[in-house]
Amino acid sequence: MQPLGSLNFIIGRVIRLLELIHAGSLKTLGDEGVRVIKGASHAIAVFVHENQVYAVDNRCPHMGFPLHTGSICDGILTCHWHHARFDVKSGGTLDPWADDVSAYPVEIKEDEVWVHPVPVK
Ligand code: FES
Repeated sequence: MQPLGSLNFIIGRVIRLLELIHAGSLKTLGDEGVRVIKGASHAIAVFVHENQVYAVDNRCPHMGFPLHTGSICDGILTCHWHHARFDVKSGGTLDPWADDVSAYPVEIKEDEVWVHPVPVK
């Protein structure tokens, strides 16, 4: 029989995987440019770039540098440690020595930004 504490932990984890994560208002995010939110298992960097909102795992898949400190130009997110580049929309890497970064679906409802806790890939 499953101990009740473990069952509650599992239920809590499943609920977190079903709930959208509020990232803030579109205006605030637009003013800030990037914000880090707490995901179900990892921190997520939410970027506003060219009037679109994107969300990726905040850990660079190369060596874990925080991607929210990177820069975006023409849809390409560049990590500032070893300069790995990622398509900010899909998370796909442009450099063969770095893995893809997980990208999260984003929804905008009544000017509020919500991020799905489960990445696309
Ligand atoms: S940690 Fe990001 S490129 Fe190396």
